[in-house]
Amino acid sequence: MSEQFTRREFLQTACISVSALAASSSATSVLAADMPKGNENGLPSCDVLVIGSGGAGLRAAVAVRKNNPNLTVVVATKMMPSRNATCMAEGGINGVTDFSNGDSYKLHAYDTVKGGAYLVDQDAALKFCELAGKAIFDMDYIGTLFSRTDKGGVAQRFMGGASKKRCNYSADKTGHILMHACLDEAISNGVKFLMDHELLEIGVDEGKCEGVVLRDIQTGEIYPVLCKALVVATGGYTRIFYNRTSTPYIATGDGVAAALRAGLGFEDPEMLQFHPTGVANGGTLITEAARGEGGYLLNNKGERFMKNYHEKMELAPRDVVARAIETEIREGRGYGEGLGSYVLIDVRHLGKEKIMKSLPKIRHTALLFQNIDLVEQPVPIRPTAHYSMGGIEVAKIDDMSTKIPGIFVGGEASCISIHGANRLGGNSLTDAVVTGRLAGMGATNYAKDATFGKGEKTKQLAKMWQDKFKEIANGSGEVHEMYALREELGKQNWDNMGIFRTQAQLDALSAALEDIEARYKNIRIPDNSSVMNTAFTDYVELGNLILLSRCACLAAQNRHESRGAHTREDYPKRDDVNFLKHSIVNLKDGKLELSYKPVVVTEFSLDGRKPQ
Ligand code: FUM
Repeated sequence: MSEQFTRREFLQTACISVSALAASSSATSVLAADMPKGNENGLPSCDVLVIGSGGAGLRAAVAVRKNNPNLTVVVATKMMPSRNATCMAEGGINGVTDFSNGDSYKLHAYDTVKGGAYLVDQDAALKFCELAGKAIFDMDYIGTLFSRTDKGGVAQRFMGGASKKRCNYSADKTGHILMHACLDEAISNGVKFLMDHELLEIGVDEGKCEGVVLRDIQTGEIYPVLCKALVVATGGYTRIFYNRTSTPYIATGDGVAAALRAGLGFEDPEMLQFHPTGVANGGTLITEAARGEGGYLLNNKGERFMKNYHEKMELAPRDVVARAIETEIREGRGYGEGLGSYVLIDVRHLGKEKIMKSLPKIRHTALLFQNIDLVEQPVPIRPTAHYSMGGIEVAKIDDMSTKIPGIFVGGEASCISIHGANRLGGNSLTDAVVTGRLAGMGATNYAKDATFGKGEKTKQLAKMWQDKFKEIANGSGEVHEMYALREELGKQNWDNMGIFRTQAQLDALSAALEDIEARYKNIRIPDNSSVMNTAFTDYVELGNLILLSRCACLAAQNRHESRGAHTREDYPKRDDVNFLKHSIVNLKDGKLELSYKPVVVTEFSLDGRKPQ
């Protein structure tokens, strides 16, 4: 191996080109065994196409390879396959594996339902929690380097809202380590990748999915790719708050937006989670595990203020802790001014040895962003947008199918209503690997008997995007207008649809979003080159963020209650009589429509959670 062999070059060995996808005759290719059979139009194609290479996408692709190696499966990803939001999850992955302390799948489901402020479908939560326990064994088996107990088992810690220690972890780098195990597993099972490919549109013809339009960011080519089954695993959309989030720049909800345009419902878009502890400078995560391991939150009086808010103090559900921090700041017990306000997290009493063993990543984060060594000093923190509880509506959890035949979804892009109005810490990695695998198996079963569509609709959509590129990237206009608009979008969402919301704020946001959308339509970017035109990628992402913000705002305007992360100061109580229901936003003839569907309540009562 040459000294110059980079990670990108290494990953390139698992990548495939689009011409290879189109070349059914490429029998001489080293990839021949994985080559698609082609289709009558000779368009690039594969049996199962997965969009997104986080935990969900990778588990979906491996499920296809394992369940039917005759099917071709390709993962298209906007960046390198190793760059995704999964690798930014820190504290751990929930799943019951130790029953000796009285824990059970049912108790995990109960905590999940209660933590989600009862906007959780209880049948889905029960199924999910049972699969969660099994998923931990799978992850251990494929080589995830979990931290260990003295007896050699997978180490577990407390996370917020959990009544038992059931969060399995690898120090505070769990997502990073787990994602690499999933990536290794995918590569060794022969999964192929289209790297630097962004999703532009999903093609639906005669009521079923026929493929997608992709753009190769490296070359600028925009083309249709046909598939028998599609898995959308593109992650969440918390970049609607632009740089006030813990999630990566790629979390722009491209799959959710494309699914919406393709005719699928967007469920509970207003349910956006604010993680209590982002570093004050920039919002990067200080894991909840810092509190799980015994860290305190302190106000400017040096008080552990959480005692005034919840019996579990720092380990209350996230929405409770985030509101408490903002309340301290509002009432003058924080530090700093305006957007620069903060409280402190203190882990000094844990000692250097414990910190270095269990929390080394956040020590690094605090040094990097605050120039503070948390072994010696408390760290300034403030809530940061972290997770999208809402996502693409799922028809059947068993296979993660949607209302459009051929489209399956997984991970944060999907919504099976297990997180409701507030996800528990540690349930996101579980969601990724559990629902990703289910989606992959669903896609496999569907693809084995399916045929390729004609591709006409998807070709038309590709042509529409090729024309759009020529129009938008026409060499005139000021690119900074686009970035100013993106910043304005983030600020509007943060100011008006943040931790506390009112009708007046949401109505103002709705008007602001209309204005932002109108200005977006006039944007032109001054770079018309096709190679690595990342300004065009930013343009596409901004369009998606605006659309998804409008959906979230519409649902938030109409939910006249407070529930979990949706805190309405003008409707401070949870209202189960009128709002024990999921918001569903659809896009019809260019207009957003809001409807509702009931929450599934099976065996857990709705009276355990206070407040909201
Ligand atoms: O705080 C954390 O480590 C985040 C974990 C999660 O969101 O599940």
